Amino acid sequence: MLEANQAMHGLGFVRTACLLLSAWLPEITSLKSRLEAAGIVKAEGNAFVKQFHTNPDAFLGWEVHSDGTIWFDLDCMDLDELQYCGFGFSETDQPAGTHHDTDVYIAHRRQVEDRYSASNWSTPRLDQHQDVSCDHCAVLDGRLHATFFRNLSTGDVAQDVSIVNRTYRVSWAIGVVRDGRVSAHNFTPRAESEYMYINFLEPEATEMPKFEVHHEVSAAGALQMALTAVLGFALLCELLS
Ligand SMILES: *[C@@H]1O[C@H](CO)[C@@H](O)[C@H](O)[C@H]1NC(C)=O
Ligand SMILES: *[C@@H]1O[C@H](CO)[C@@H](O)[C@H](O)[C@H]1NC(C)=O
Ligand SMILES: *[C@@H]1O[C@H](CO)[C@@H](O)[C@H](O)[C@H]1NC(C)=O
Repeated sequence: MLEANQAMHGLGFVRTACLLLSAWLPEITSLKSRLEAAGIVKAEGNAFVKQFHTNPDAFLGWEVHSDGTIWFDLDCMDLDELQYCGFGFSETDQPAGTHHDTDVYIAHRRQVEDRYSASNWSTPRLDQHQDVSCDHCAVLDGRLHATFFRNLSTGDVAQDVSIVNRTYRVSWAIGVVRDGRVSAHNFTPRAESEYMYINFLEPEATEMPKFEVHHEVSAAGALQMALTAVLGFALLCELLS
């Protein structure tokens, strides 16, 4: 009788634990799957990284510091002397291929330029006020590695986009600089699904657009996994009750 009672207590404990776990699980899975769906990887500390191109491989990393600065880390492989690597982000959801009201950063050789695109199709122009500082910007053996930072809000309301807690559509380009001019880029997103979508401040809260075919598959996969796990727990709980 005593043994049976203890066994019941033990089962009760497992049951409570499994109920708690199944309550937590969907939440944990949804935060993880948001990063996964956005293709963002958590690096060390508070840093995150996203690969935005393969062959040549190119990565954008970032870290928000408590002093109100954001540090970017652009790492682009297999570039020649003439090539630049850059990215831009905008709040507006414009059609693919356009870059209206887009804040642009272009790394080339040992510098990073602060640029801005006001209209849909124009080449991003050099900002009158450069609100970015290179910490370590260099090209070594065809690998461009630029670590640079700016304030989340630069105060340049005309030619910068403030970084707040929201998802930005992030475009990118790898191309050639000729006579100091950024010329047409051969590698750049053409379809909505090829852009990056990033909430720089809260990457776990990044909201992927619905039309994303690629990422819907992995989000669906994550959802299926979560459902399977929840069903597994439910079954276990059913067996124990
Ligand atoms: C950019 O293009 C979109 C759609 O074609 C249009 O609605 C918008 O007004 C354009 N913006 C500018 C600044 O030209
Ligand atoms: C950030 O803003 C402060 C003033 O608030 C300014 O002194 C500093 O130069 C800015 N940093 C960058 C990287 O522009
Ligand atoms: C950012 O926004 C999300 C949802 O929109 C919210 O849950 C979160 O608390 C916000 N974070 C901060 C630091 O404001």
